[in-house]
Amino acid sequence: MVGESVKLEVRFNVFSNVPKSKLPTTLTLDRQMPQFCETAEVLVIGGGVIGLTIARALALRGVRNVVLVERARLGAEASSAAAGMLAPQAEADDADSFFNLCCQSRDMYPTFAAALREETGIDAELDRTGTLYLAFTEHDLREIDHRYDWQGRLGLAVQKLNPTDARTLEPGISESVRGALKFPNDIQVENRRLLSALIAANEKQSVRLMTGTSVESIRCNRGRIEGAVTSRGLVSTDTIVVAGGAWSSFIKVTDTASPIPRIEPVKGQMVCFNSRPSIARHVIYTPRGYLVPRRDGRVLAGTTTEQAGFDKEVTASGVHSILSNALEISPRISDLPLVGVWSGLRPRAQDSLPVLGPGAEVRGLVFATGHYRNGILLAPITGELIAGAIVDNVVSTELNAFGPDRFAAVGVNP
Ligand code: FAD
Ligand code: GLY
Repeated sequence: MVGESVKLEVRFNVFSNVPKSKLPTTLTLDRQMPQFCETAEVLVIGGGVIGLTIARALALRGVRNVVLVERARLGAEASSAAAGMLAPQAEADDADSFFNLCCQSRDMYPTFAAALREETGIDAELDRTGTLYLAFTEHDLREIDHRYDWQGRLGLAVQKLNPTDARTLEPGISESVRGALKFPNDIQVENRRLLSALIAANEKQSVRLMTGTSVESIRCNRGRIEGAVTSRGLVSTDTIVVAGGAWSSFIKVTDTASPIPRIEPVKGQMVCFNSRPSIARHVIYTPRGYLVPRRDGRVLAGTTTEQAGFDKEVTASGVHSILSNALEISPRISDLPLVGVWSGLRPRAQDSLPVLGPGAEVRGLVFATGHYRNGILLAPITGELIAGAIVDNVVSTELNAFGPDRFAAVGVNP
């Protein structure tokens, strides 16, 4: 296989009557099957948004031999399934350290996306129109009051809108809307284009992207990393970043009592429409669902939150619940052609918070997993903090709050 040209295609359940050229529903990479690398200065496990962002950040900091190992195709899992919302103010219930991390990362996006565009020529379509949070029920009205109060007290950008103002801003939303908040700083990115940009940026930085290669175990001796045992042989290294998303805790670590915290898959299904002209300009969010309009006329509707193991089937009940929540937001959805459905597995730790940074037990083993609902949002800050921890040996206060040692009992493989 080495040296052969292979075409890797990631497909997202797209209906056959839609001209493929019109929709970025696939990530297609014509590339040489990568050479096997026997050594790495840093080895990153997982080619999703998190692994790719970290690998690029390491290379930009001067790490020469960064090797990223992806068992299948780059970006093909949760990172492609996501909606690309960068919306901590719409999603958070409280101002805690996680909320602060999310806001910091969101605010890094304009620079992050511009740098990627500069490096690769690929526009990740960062859209800064903002997010509308709609209320349809008494419960929703209490939610918007609560958010408006605590976020207003913190001086965050949030505007309260009456139903008329909300419908003036977005004429496509339902006449049943009872109130709304506008979060001008909660924005969105086209996550599949972001992945293409990250792949190209890594290639430009000479990061070695070993696709079709799985890390089976991490070899360590007396508390230090020696290398990774892959499906194609041993890669020697003293530093490994675990960025395997929902599969992270399958990776075994020899000579230690399994120090990988337990990460579980949480399925999210998505439905995609085509809308020209678009039925919305903002991301539109309710406590039950969301609509995300894309520049090319697609409108993504999400989602479900299911504990279904590693099953990724799109189900009738999943699509039914997404459609009913989308129709609540905008009855105009009923006239739109439905052009795609897909699902992905969010990686969730026991406390639903990301697992970031080095652990005390094994020197050289660094975690960047468990990003659950916010991996696209948290990619830029994760890249910076993890690269900083490895290159400058700095474990920031942000990392301390999300370190792997917070789990009292060390997780076991699922
Ligand atoms: P993944 O993208 O799953 O990548 C992990 C990679 O590791 C995979 O490619 C896998 O093959 C590889 N891997 C695993 N084990 C091994 C191994 N042993 N050897 C080699 N490779 C391995 N987040 C947001 O911020 N905003 C959103 O709007 C948003 N919407 C979402 C909507 C849905 C429906 C879903 C499902 C998720 C959404 N998310 C969103 C969450 C976001 O998608 C995830 O948090 C993020 O993609 C996680 O990235 P990751 O790189 O950790 O995981
Ligand atoms: N953050 C959106 C989702 O996980 O569906």
